[in-house]
Amino acid sequence: MCSKGFILVFLAYFSLVTSNLAPFITKCKWDDSKCIKESSMKAIPRFADGIPDLNVETIDPLNVKYVDASSSNIKLIVTDVVVTGLKNCEPKKVQRDIAKSKLFFKVLCSPDLNGKYDMKGQLFVLPIEGNGNLIAKVPKLVINVELDLAEKEGKDGKKHWHVKAWKHTFELKDKSNVKFENLFPNNEFLRNSTSELIAQNGNGVINEIGQPVIKAVVAKVIENIKHFFTAVPTEDLALD
Ligand SMILES: *[C@@H]1O[C@H](CO)[C@@H](O)[C@H](O)[C@H]1NC(C)=O
Repeated sequence: MCSKGFILVFLAYFSLVTSNLAPFITKCKWDDSKCIKESSMKAIPRFADGIPDLNVETIDPLNVKYVDASSSNIKLIVTDVVVTGLKNCEPKKVQRDIAKSKLFFKVLCSPDLNGKYDMKGQLFVLPIEGNGNLIAKVPKLVINVELDLAEKEGKDGKKHWHVKAWKHTFELKDKSNVKFENLFPNNEFLRNSTSELIAQNGNGVINEIGQPVIKAVVAKVIENIKHFFTAVPTEDLALD
């Protein structure tokens, strides 16, 4: 009895310490970009579903409670944002630079965004104001992310990647649709003309006032990548 119990505990322990925590990751050599890209392609939908055991939240849908996107020209608060479609992001390029300890991602995504906005100020040098629903469809959003990594020993005594810093850029490769409902609540004429201007210039609107929202979404994804790296040692992620 006693020795059976011991064997069971031993087996459980053994499987815990030896099992790969992220079996959906194909381990690649650092310079094998093709392997890394293919591995990322398989990993993105798994990751997007969320992995509670590894402390990774669902990122499709992804919720962002509050973004202050204000600038000197405009007060813009965006709240209760729900982004969908990140599950279908396609990696275009994923590279590691081990000398500089960096990880680069270039992904093509087609997210939809729903939220609430409150704004007052200037857009394209014209006055704008309103509050209500915000809806955006961005059919071809290319996001480049650069992660600065360090290696740290985790609680498991193994090496883990730690994201020290990150930066991103984005490009809009197709026409985006942006709609602010209830602009100029008390002026139908201005509401109509401004809504029309925005409907014609979705990409311009995103480039002028949407950057903080995109940054907040990228930040939320990176937060989960950090959790993932904290949970999974590098030996389960890469071959070197
Ligand atoms: C605003 O647009 C609506 C719907 O297109 C139209 O019925 C209305 O006459 C317009 N109002 C003004 C003041 O242009």
